Amino acid sequence: VSQRPLVLVTGSSGSVGRALVAGLPGAGWSVRGLDLVAPVGGQPDTAPEAGLVLGDSFDRALLDEALAGCVAVVHLAAVPHEAPVAEIAASHVTGLTAVLDATLRAGIDRFVFASSNHAVGFTPRQERVGTGTRPRPDSYYGVGKVAGEALCSLYSDQHGLRTAALRIGSFQPRPLTRRHLSTWLSPGDLVRAVDACLRHPALSCATLYGISANTRGWWDLAPGRALGYEPQDDAEDFAAEILASTPEPAADDPEHACLGGAFVAAGLPTPEERA
Ligand SMILES: NC(=O)c1ccc[n+]([C@@H]2O[C@H](COP(=O)([O-])OP(=O)(O)OC[C@H]3O[C@@H](n4cnc5c(N)ncnc54)[C@H](O)[C@@H]3O)[C@@H](O)[C@H]2O)c1
Repeated sequence: VSQRPLVLVTGSSGSVGRALVAGLPGAGWSVRGLDLVAPVGGQPDTAPEAGLVLGDSFDRALLDEALAGCVAVVHLAAVPHEAPVAEIAASHVTGLTAVLDATLRAGIDRFVFASSNHAVGFTPRQERVGTGTRPRPDSYYGVGKVAGEALCSLYSDQHGLRTAALRIGSFQPRPLTRRHLSTWLSPGDLVRAVDACLRHPALSCATLYGISANTRGWWDLAPGRALGYEPQDDAEDFAAEILASTPEPAADDPEHACLGGAFVAAGLPTPEERA
């Protein structure tokens, strides 16, 4: 049995989850996973060492079982893309609330929430965007993340839960597009960011950007650094290759006007489409 403190990672079989399963043990944490499905491929390094609880992360009994013995939760399980508003509300509001309530029942005082850059996706691209700007979601998905951050704030104020909302940019093994030159979060920096949130002794109710130290980054890294997150990677290392192999965007392309990229350009369904 590991002597390291135990952390529950919901959504542990997904792309972010698998990277945390692989990386958090090296930072001193033991990981238990919870997911609807087993990780694709079934490689040994995708199996959480403290076991995988299979099922719905919004199931009360399953959560109580999964949280036993844990000191913190990293909550990733959610619809990770644009979807009808009812689906977003079920996953990002009702579902998240079930996980927060189970966290309190288990006596756990620390909660890391996978938020997203799409919570502020309609913000025009500019030099640096902090965490104090108004929420500007670019999709129902982004609205779901804003609501998630609000729930973290509520549980922090009302119950003293220590919460960190990590606004992940683009988590990828390596940057692939021009936008990624600004938004990339490397696997190593993901682990460093989550580790900082799990570790910081004075965490109360924080919001930070989960991006690497990208030369072309739009988001302020200071809130993360204040928690001890020191990113080590920079998408600029891939810039020459990406710029040479991808076309220059048109100046009036809405995808390039705002932080959220394609989510902004996609637009919400019209009332007619929704009917
Ligand atoms: N990947 C990114 O670049 C990125 C960017 C911003 C935010 N995020 C957020 O990070 C989190 C993880 O994203 P990802 O890219 O790894 O997505 P993913 O789709 O690869 O993984 C999500 C995992 O959650 C599981 N899941 C979903 N609903 C569940 C439920 N009710 N119960 C149990 N498991 C459930 C899925 O089975 C899946 O394995 C999401 O909350 C997403 O919104 C990701």
